[in-house]
Amino acid sequence: MDSRPVYQLADGASRPRRLRTTPAIRRLVSENRLHPADLILPMFVKEGLEEPLELTSMPGVRQHSLDSLLEHARAAVAAGVGGLMLFGIPAVRDEQGSQGDDPDGILNRALRLLRDELGDDTVIMADLCLDEFTSHGHCGVLATDGSVDNDATLDRYASLAVAQADAGAHVLGLSGMMDGQVAAVRHALDATGHQDVVVLAYAAKFASAFYGPFREAVDSQLTGDRRTYQQDAANGREALRELELDISEGADLVIVKPGMPYLDVLADAAAASSVPVWAYQISGEYAMIEFAARAGAIDRMPAILESLVGFKRAGADAVLTYWAAEVAALLSGQTADSGAEPTTED
Ligand code: PBG
Repeated sequence: MDSRPVYQLADGASRPRRLRTTPAIRRLVSENRLHPADLILPMFVKEGLEEPLELTSMPGVRQHSLDSLLEHARAAVAAGVGGLMLFGIPAVRDEQGSQGDDPDGILNRALRLLRDELGDDTVIMADLCLDEFTSHGHCGVLATDGSVDNDATLDRYASLAVAQADAGAHVLGLSGMMDGQVAAVRHALDATGHQDVVVLAYAAKFASAFYGPFREAVDSQLTGDRRTYQQDAANGREALRELELDISEGADLVIVKPGMPYLDVLADAAAASSVPVWAYQISGEYAMIEFAARAGAIDRMPAILESLVGFKRAGADAVLTYWAAEVAALLSGQTADSGAEPTTED
């Protein structure tokens, strides 16, 4: 039988595989690279904890005591992460979320501790929202009919913003999705001498099933959902409207969240935005990869790196990810390569 191929590429035909022949060539032609400074680590600190507590729905992620928070923050900074995003879990909650703007509230204490200890060595960010602090678990205060009262919430956000800035946060992450929140917070900061505190707006934040493990992380009290304030998963154009509004109200940075199911929104936002655009790879995305890897279905670190470089390819300038410290350490050569082919800059 004739074993010649039926069809052969002509001389001079395009052969894209040429640029894939060796790791060195692949590295040379890589269009996007992960760098430790592009990775931001979200961290949870819980009032009254003596020892850190690992989350069952997020293996490897902990609720921290103040001591363990500082220890892990130092390690993340040593690995070169771009910043830290803090979430606080108070011992007591009420309707107004008053622990959020109490200077002795757990989040504000943690911010003060990290700023005192780490100074300006890293960028310290605070989640600015009420859901961790309210007894009902909503991101805003409630009207008498039980609905989330947008405008009454703005006053609360303004007060949280000043408390967090006073505590030393460099960046405030406005994650509540209330209309007008960026303008309200910017105004409050400027009126109190905090002109240089950065506003990071969750411009496009979608109501998502992938927040599931976060509920455990912050001991959430929520019943029901957030669909009257977070966006519908079906709507991409609406995300651009939110982006435009946030930038016009003074947002310095914007986020698209969740990450992996919304890469199209991220790409559109990156193309349209005049300020840096970040992605938040959320708790459920973390859990999916961790549990799939534990089940032997996927190779853990290559999957993590692929998910992260995907955000860069879609246009993210930086990514919030619970793997930030681990991946930053890997990229900066502090830990061994675990079989993946990371695209490092150095
Ligand atoms: C609100 C907030 C949430 C997350 C970050 N900020 C929860 C929500 O909107 O329901 C989720 C982060 C994650 O799932 O990793 N304060």
